[in-house]
Amino acid sequence: MTAANLGRAGQTDKLSEDCPIGIIGAMEEEVETLYSSMEEKETIKYGAWTLYKGKLCGKNAIVVRSGIGKVNMAACTQMLISVFDVRFLINTGVAGSLDAEIDIGDIVISTDCLQHDMDAVAFGYEPGVIPQMDCSVFKADKRAGELAFSLCKSLNPEISVHFGRVLSGDVFVADKAKKKYLVSQFLGKCTEMEGAAMAQVAYINKTPYLVLRAISDKADDSANMDYSQFEVGAIKHLVKLVKGLVAEL
Ligand code: ADE
Repeated sequence: MTAANLGRAGQTDKLSEDCPIGIIGAMEEEVETLYSSMEEKETIKYGAWTLYKGKLCGKNAIVVRSGIGKVNMAACTQMLISVFDVRFLINTGVAGSLDAEIDIGDIVISTDCLQHDMDAVAFGYEPGVIPQMDCSVFKADKRAGELAFSLCKSLNPEISVHFGRVLSGDVFVADKAKKKYLVSQFLGKCTEMEGAAMAQVAYINKTPYLVLRAISDKADDSANMDYSQFEVGAIKHLVKLVKGLVAEL
């Protein structure tokens, strides 16, 4: 039997503008708010996911909540690519800040993403390096990142926006020593639990992506905030930014 050449992995053609933009949100309220802004919308059930398909700011888009952690994100990202043929991927949600300059409520836009819990050090690899892959730090789409940065400044002037490396791992970081290690080892600007999984699946499938994260905590033992109050503001800022960006993609 010969191998069939299916899918996008070897594809070099640009995907059609009609292909949808895939948006994976972490928060239910965020997904709902985006869905209520959609036109010509339909709800689709696929596996464990509920997807919202329609037009967002005049563009074909599909919005879904992946579930928490890298495996949920990887599976959801591959589903959006393989089943719905998305041409661009956006991940939004919250993250812990790894930089004193980045405050709660601010937004971080990914320059690149890596998995801080990938550890094959016992085989001589550096921490974070994925064995037998040609890449472990996955670059986000530069043009979309720059667009998002300037859009965020004009749409959300009450908060600060930052560019930087997003670190992902299947761990909620709430520890000063761990935070210090993440900064010195990986030069991360924020940490969360999904972005790098989207980034790796996007890389494998040659699909551009961007991660947008609102800072909910400082990833150390001091983080003590009114999460519900933060969440309302964060959703408002992220939704404005996602809609602004989608309109331009
Ligand atoms: N999401 C929000 N804050 C986080 C943290 N400190 N660690 C991991 N994921 C997060």
